[in-house]
Amino acid sequence: MKILHVSAECYPVAKAGGLGDVVGALPRFQAELGHDSGVVMPMYRTPFLYANDWLVVHKASTNLGHWWFEYTVIKEKTDKQGFSLYLLDINGLLDREKVYGYEDDTERFMAFQVAMVHWLNTWEQLPDVVHVHDHHTALIPFMMQHSYAYQRLAGVPSVLTIHNAQYQGSFGWDKTIYLPHWDSWKRGLLEWEGQINPLASGIKCAWKVTTVSQTYLQELRYMSNGLEAIFEYEQGKCIGILNGIDFKVWNPESDQYLKNHFTPETLEAGKKANKLLICNQFNLDPDKPLFIFIGRLVGEKGADLLPNVIRDAFRFIGRSMNFLILGSGEKQVEDELSHLKVISQGDYNTYIGYNETLSHIMYAGADFLLMPSRVEPCGLNQLYALRYGTIPVVRKTGGLKDTVIDIGNSGGYGINFEQVSVGDITHAIYRALELYRDIGTFRSLKKKIMQLDFSWNKSATDYIDLYQSFQ
Ligand code: ADP
Ligand code: GLC
Repeated sequence: MKILHVSAECYPVAKAGGLGDVVGALPRFQAELGHDSGVVMPMYRTPFLYANDWLVVHKASTNLGHWWFEYTVIKEKTDKQGFSLYLLDINGLLDREKVYGYEDDTERFMAFQVAMVHWLNTWEQLPDVVHVHDHHTALIPFMMQHSYAYQRLAGVPSVLTIHNAQYQGSFGWDKTIYLPHWDSWKRGLLEWEGQINPLASGIKCAWKVTTVSQTYLQELRYMSNGLEAIFEYEQGKCIGILNGIDFKVWNPESDQYLKNHFTPETLEAGKKANKLLICNQFNLDPDKPLFIFIGRLVGEKGADLLPNVIRDAFRFIGRSMNFLILGSGEKQVEDELSHLKVISQGDYNTYIGYNETLSHIMYAGADFLLMPSRVEPCGLNQLYALRYGTIPVVRKTGGLKDTVIDIGNSGGYGINFEQVSVGDITHAIYRALELYRDIGTFRSLKKKIMQLDFSWNKSATDYIDLYQSFQ
């Protein structure tokens, strides 16, 4: 099958979070299954762009409302990612250093989608499926079906994967002219609560909708930032497919960011060496258990509770553990976490910012990974932690519920808690410390989790089965 993914992120070209990891891996696994898969994404100004060779495959002009612009599509020459990688360049609009966070993000992603559909319409052989990801690309199914200029695309099946329904990309009707001339009777397919809501439109128009775990799909019917009724109504075309992880990138035996590699057989020495490295770098005591948090410092991830959790853990449990936080996000949370360094007695530190190398060493060197998420559609961190022999301590929600079984249950290997509250999280830390002290069980659990199979093999096939249902 000919599969075309359209996304705002794709590792290693550009990544802001898990979306990048998924779109960097899934197409390669699909190609390995014998399919012709490709990714098209905006051309940002990232190191990957300058470090690779590109072919110009298309140049044209189109319009975003009254603004006419030129765009260029380039393709990586060697398909070294394992699939065809296309970057779409719109001078001055997309070619910036960051993926998101600009005032004109609406215009940037609208222009990207408009140009993408314009280009697709020139393809001689159309794809068997166009697979879009999250709200930045979710208006494509509408345009393919209801824009007059693109009627040729109306029969091409589309899939929308929702990685995160908190962000929907809504904008006002004054910007309706951004969409290529469309059948105004179809207004209802764009609208939600008085605005143009790209994610809602994607759910209504895509042939199938997937979420990145089964539990998240169930949760969305009760809690989806205003879209509950759509998920209830459209449930027939929605399915949950759990993300996998890319063992080529995330493998403690060969990880390009690690100096100290290890296998399930050498994990004790390997993890110790990585832990020592981080503890020296961050002035922590390597003899104490190390709890880490890696991620966006936002309410969704429960990051705002971390300062109080750490204070309470020190106060009520004692200073018998270390905490190290890596993340960036809301300014207030960043500041609080930075200020907390004053209470450290060589047992707390934080790195505010994005650091891919450090994240890998932290997964490898830590004893426990904390994920107090309020919402977690799938979560990849806990899967990386498992692979690197680090026990996940997670709130029982979304994909965390689907992937981490509590040690209190038969076959369990992680620690779950129910509420996003300082008390519940601190209690989970207490349970983790009890496990840490039970040296034999702790060791065998670490060995066991390294060997759990959360690879893409099964999920990549599930997506193919879904596409095949269109034929
Ligand atoms: P989300 O996509 O919601 O942020 P995921 O758990 O799916 O959450 O994926 C997060 C990805 O981003 C993981 O690969 C994680 O290691 C990485 N990540 C998040 N924050 C940082 C950071 N500050 N530095 C390095 N990597 C980070
Ligand atoms: C989103 C979600 C995260 C998920 C990732 C990849 O950013 O917040 O839970 O793992 O997408 O699907």
